[in-house]
This record gives sequence, structure tokens and C-alpha cells, in this order.
Amino acid sequence: MDFTLHIWRQRGREDAGGFVTYPVRGISPDLSFLEMLDVLNEELAGRGEAPVAFDHDCREGICGSCAMVINGDPHGPLRATTTCQLYMRHFADGADITIEPWRAEAFPVLRDLIVDRSALDRVIQAGGYVSVNSGAAPDAHATTVAKQAADTAFEAAACIGCGACVAACPNGAAMLFTAAKVAQLALLPQGQPERVRRVIGMVEAMDHAGFGNCTNHYSCAEACPKEIPVRFIARLNREFLRAALTSREFVELERPHEHEE
Ligand code: SF4
Ligand code: FES
Repeated sequence: MDFTLHIWRQRGREDAGGFVTYPVRGISPDLSFLEMLDVLNEELAGRGEAPVAFDHDCREGICGSCAMVINGDPHGPLRATTTCQLYMRHFADGADITIEPWRAEAFPVLRDLIVDRSALDRVIQAGGYVSVNSGAAPDAHATTVAKQAADTAFEAAACIGCGACVAACPNGAAMLFTAAKVAQLALLPQGQPERVRRVIGMVEAMDHAGFGNCTNHYSCAEACPKEIPVRFIARLNREFLRAALTSREFVELERPHEHEE
């Protein structure tokens, strides 16, 4: 298969960047999208040109690092698929393919297709942990977590932190990501000690990281390779409201200057 690639090249944060066109020829339909980029990079290196920088790690849909927008879609045109799970047979022979980095204020471009996604890490650091001693392994026949809660927590835990939801959102909001992380722990007994502090801290961190607000476009859920449903955002709103109404910590966060004095 032959393709004409239009790839965003940008040397660093301060560089204006722009699209560069590269033809690639004789590509096997069974190559993954990242392997196709590997072929291009070998050609570029052979010609003494700088390879296209892109993030990747597991290449099996687990790590969430293969962040790129393909023909306008985060992770490309297939639903529930990360870029590394996308194959060239999913494209028409002779197609033009546009490849860009995530576009969001909170994700500055570091180089070419690589963006700084540490804003998501800061949201996690603000509360995505449990400090309770969960004890020894329970008896095999014990049901320590109700089946429905366990299933829903597992559904939320499928989030791989890729940031496609942010890239797809016209506001650059990270609500779906934050909602998945908050819900995952709020549903489990281990997550109860920090439940209130967690949702307040993670929403605060999300706001400070420069993510936008949710205005119900639902583009996040459409782009999510793990199909995290938008109902988790409603759950996040409920968690936050509950915390705001009941928490002393929220009052302290709302009055930081008084607190400093
Ligand atoms: S919610 Fe989906 S799109 Fe957003 S970071 Fe998690 S896996 Fe990626
Ligand atoms: S490289 Fe890990 S999810 Fe794609």
C-alpha cells in the first residue's frame, strides 16, 4: 500500500511548527500505524533527516502513550482503538493521512507528535491513591466488594490515561479522565478514607492544570479507546457536590488566604 502522510513537525515548545508531506510506498496492510511510522523513520534516518518523534511504549493498548490525532480523530478513525492497535488495512490504498499531536492548552507540544501530558499526572497525584492498610488476602469465598460496585469500578479502571478525551473536547476538558479516576476509588472500600479529600483535590488540580470546562459535547466518550461512558462525569459531579456540602477541607480550600494567615 502507498500513502501520502502529512505530519506535524515541530522542533520544540517555542517553534511554530507546520505540516511536512512524506510519501511512503510498499507498506504491508498488516503493519500497525506505529510500525508504518517506524518504516518512515528508518527512511528519514537513512537520508540523514530527523525522524518523526512520537510517543509509544506497550504497543498493545495498555499504556496510553501513543497519543496522536489521525485525520482529525484522536487515535484514528476506529472506535475503541488506540493508535498502536490501528492497522494500515484500515486505510484505503493511496490515501492521504494527516497526523498531528494532541491539541490542548494543558498539553504543550514537546516535539513533533509528542506532547507533555504531565498535567494528567498532577491530577492523579492530587488524590489518586489509597492510604488504608487493606490487610491480608481475604478468604477465597468472601465477597468484600459487591459485584455491581466491583464491575463499575473495573469499568472506570480501564482508563489508560491517554488524554484522547482532552484532545477530542472542544474545551480541552479532562472531565472524563478525572471522573474515571475518582469513580474507580470512590466505589471501593479501600477508597473511602480519602473519598472527600480526593475528589476536591483532583478537581482543584484539574482546574489548575489549564483544562477547560465540560459543556456536554460528549466528544470525549466517542474518542475514548476504552469506551469510558460519560455517566462517570455525572458521578464525578455528584461526588464533588457531596464533598463540597459536607467537607471542612473544601471550606479551607475556598479560603486559602485566611488559611495562610
Ligand atoms: S477517559 Fe478514555 S480517552 Fe480519557 S484518558 Fe482515560 S482512556 Fe484515555
Ligand atoms: S503504545 Fe501503549 S497504548 Fe499504544
